[in-house]
Amino acid sequence: MMITVQLDKNKHDRNRFDCGVNALNAYLKVMANQQSKKDNTRTFVLEDENKPKHIIGYYTLTMAPINLELLPNKLQKKHHNAGSGGLIARLAVDKRYKKQGYGEWLLIDALKKLLLVSETVGFPLVIVDAKDGSIEFYEKFGFMAFQDTVNKLFLTMADIRVSLT
Ligand SMILES: CC(C)(COP(=O)(O)OP(=O)(O)OC[C@H]1O[C@@H](n2cnc3c(N)ncnc32)[C@H](O)[C@@H]1OP(=O)(O)O)[C@@H](O)C(=O)NCCC(=O)NCCS
Repeated sequence: MMITVQLDKNKHDRNRFDCGVNALNAYLKVMANQQSKKDNTRTFVLEDENKPKHIIGYYTLTMAPINLELLPNKLQKKHHNAGSGGLIARLAVDKRYKKQGYGEWLLIDALKKLLLVSETVGFPLVIVDAKDGSIEFYEKFGFMAFQDTVNKLFLTMADIRVSLT
């Protein structure tokens, strides 16, 4: 059974992780644990079952303000009182484990966590900061770009609920 656990710097080999994008490697190495200690973000990792020290992939969750003007009109009206959305700030899979479905599995795992959180602390959207080259990956799952923005995409909680339940 696959489960994600919170990043544990004493257990997980952060230096080994290589997704091919330096900024995403560096975040895991030097920022993720510190940011979690400060309660700014949470980072979850998927361990290799055979070698639990080895990180297959990770994602980082937090909240972010919703830029209402960049939403389609209908959603702007519906959510004009909303403040924040759940943010998948980072998501990456190690090169050695790419193209095996782990990225998709991690994305769904992150959405499940955010859906659960939203039952307690309501928010209407999940936002993702997509690096160049991964935008199409998110579009496959229904994420739509904010107007005039290339790297920020969103999915409504209403759509996530329908997909996951
Ligand atoms: C994007 C990322 C998370 C995908 O992880 P992955 O484990 O390889 O993805 P999966 O195997 O779960 O793929 C799921 C689906 O998305 C597709 N996909 C994967 N990466 C994609 C990409 N970059 N663009 C478009 N589609 C992509 C796969 O073909 C697959 O589709 P299928 O089910 O129809 O075969 C991973 O490539 C990553 O860590 N990216 C960060 C590094 C990055 O952004 N690199 C820039 C591109 S080189």
